[in-house]
Amino acid sequence: MATLKSSANPTARALIAWYDRHHRELPWRTTPAMAAKGRRPDPYHVWLSEVMLQQTTVQAVKAYFEKFVDRWPTVEDLAAAPNEDVMAAWAGLGYYARARNLKKCAEVVSGTHGGVFPDTEEGLRTLPGIGDYTAAAIAAIAFGRPAAVMDGNVERVISRLHAIDAPLPGSKPEMKRHVAALTPAERPGDFAQAMMDLGATICTPKRPACALCPFRGDCLALDGDDPERFPVKAAKKEKPVRQGAAFVAVSGDGLILLRRRPEQGLLGGMTEVPTTGWTARVDGETDVAAAPFPADWQPAGTVTHVFTHFELRLSVYRAGPLGVPSGVHGFWEPVTKLDDLALPTVMKKAIVQAIPNAFPTNKG
Ligand code: ADE
Repeated sequence: MATLKSSANPTARALIAWYDRHHRELPWRTTPAMAAKGRRPDPYHVWLSEVMLQQTTVQAVKAYFEKFVDRWPTVEDLAAAPNEDVMAAWAGLGYYARARNLKKCAEVVSGTHGGVFPDTEEGLRTLPGIGDYTAAAIAAIAFGRPAAVMDGNVERVISRLHAIDAPLPGSKPEMKRHVAALTPAERPGDFAQAMMDLGATICTPKRPACALCPFRGDCLALDGDDPERFPVKAAKKEKPVRQGAAFVAVSGDGLILLRRRPEQGLLGGMTEVPTTGWTARVDGETDVAAAPFPADWQPAGTVTHVFTHFELRLSVYRAGPLGVPSGVHGFWEPVTKLDDLALPTVMKKAIVQAIPNAFPTNKG
């Protein structure tokens, strides 16, 4: 891989030289041999990985990414896939609106753009589920556009490099100006990914490895002896708590009662065990009268799950083994088949609370 020309800014050159030696090998990136021949990664792979990486760690995304590209090798394949299959393959990654938008976006790229992703930030932003971050990342990584790519890792690196005292999120535009000024015309995609890798491996939130950092000669936070102080963040509001109950009913022949959540709203279209509404009530009382049918509902403990805007505490109740009652809203599935369903993590937690060995291969 060629390092940047000597005309490029020295800070970017130092980072790219570091990246050439220390980049993380990730399944959606080109290998160094491909990059040396000027080959860029497949835009479909870049898009898929960037959507998965919004709010999810690199470690968690790897296996999902490989599963998706094995099963749907092109954007057209994904566009043609049944919605339920895509939702089931996504189960466990969280933030399910991303999966619905992923499918919609594949349909638009396949149907309206002839299977070819737009190659500019503006064009990419018109697609479902692609906001400023993802548009910039795809434009830079897949198409070599000098877009300023900002995520949490990049914010930490840039706020330390410039010792930005103003708190996030208000300081984002200032950070973006710095990133834009630093982004080189050559290899902007590698520059963006180098900033991310630096943030993930060297410029970490706690105990950054400054001695190994290619920016150590320029970093104002290091000069001030307190890199961990950055990025400065506005005080966080506490998340509100909501409470509800989840009902795990198991039949004598090993079937569990499930439902499909409405398309609209949180976890839209995903599978769940029956639950009550999730309300702001935190009085420790849960209404067994709201169970899907009358039975000997036994308390099985509580699970907690943190969503973006609230924390949910679900009291879990279990009934069974029972004869399958008729006329109950929902469908009955073998407990042994739970791994194949589009079950969000919070529902897996509730089921495991009632049936500890429900997911032998995957603790959810
Ligand atoms: N986080 C988001 N996008 C990434 C990428 N392309 N490489 C590493 N971490 C990332």
